Order: sequence, then structure tokens, then C-alpha cells
Amino acid sequence: MTRRIRAVTPTLPREPGIDRLSAHHLHALAVAVLIDRYLKVDPTPERLADLAGKVAGFAEKELFPHFQVEETALFPALREALDSDPLIDELIAHHRNMEELVRRLAESSARQRASLLREFGGSLRRHIRMEEVELFRQIGGRLDQAGREELGRKVDDAARAMGLTVHKLW
Ligand SMILES: [Fe+2]
Ligand SMILES: [Fe+2]
Repeated sequence: MTRRIRAVTPTLPREPGIDRLSAHHLHALAVAVLIDRYLKVDPTPERLADLAGKVAGFAEKELFPHFQVEETALFPALREALDSDPLIDELIAHHRNMEELVRRLAESSARQRASLLREFGGSLRRHIRMEEVELFRQIGGRLDQAGREELGRKVDDAARAMGLTVHKLW
């Protein structure tokens, strides 16, 4: 019997600019999975300090520039094209919250580190799911081909200006 696998993002548009943001989302999900693994398998103070350092590098080099691309190019365009202001406001609040968690992680004691890492991983996972499933689905449903291409170009231009790449961690 063949089992059907339900796509996580069935209506995800494939324009290159949006696709690149989705590639970052997949990488960020991998980071969230690795945080879970470290916490379950080897939560020694040394390993968690090492993990906190990797998360800080990922945040500075990839996640925060990704937030900036979304906030300067993607979200303003979608505020005009879609009726999504409350959703976009909530996504921006997530960004600020994750920045704050990374800042607290950098200053954390060994005792606080596991719970901050857990909170950061969970926030990242929920945020990506909301962008992919709720926001990107609307792009697929509400923008025509020309609109999606224009959006993709705006995102690509902003990503190039930010020097956004996928940061290698492990
Ligand atoms: Fe975001
Ligand atoms: Fe994102």
C-alpha cells in the first residue's frame, strides 16, 4: 500500500526569492531539532555552552539578517498585497522576542541555559510554521504570477544587500 505524505507547505510559491527564505526556514528547523537533541542526549554544562555559542553564531550571521530581509522587503510588500496586518505584526513580535532570547542566552548562567535554549528552539519552530503555513499560503492563493515574481525580486534584492546566506554550523 502506498502512503500519501501530506506536504507541509502544499501551496508554497516557487519564486526564487521566496524559495530562498524557505531554504533558511528548513535550516532553522534543523537548528531547532539539534537543540532538542543536545538537550535530550548530552545536556552537560560544557555541551550547552558550546551549543549556546553555535546558536549565537547562527542568529547573528543568518537568522537576524533573515528577519531584516522579511521586515524590509517581504512584510511591507505583503501589507499592501494581503489583508494580513495582524499576522505580520505578530510575526515581527516573534522576531523581537527571539532577539531578546539570544541576548539573554549570551548573558545566561549555566543553570539558565537549558531552559533558554528550549524556549528559543520552540519559538523558532512555531514562528517558521506560522510563516510557511499561514503567510506563504496566502501568497500562493492571493498573488498572481506577476505579483509573486515582483515579490520574489524584492526579497532577492534585499537578501543580496544584506549578504544573506545559509550559515554553516555543524
Ligand atoms: Fe520571520
Ligand atoms: Fe522567516
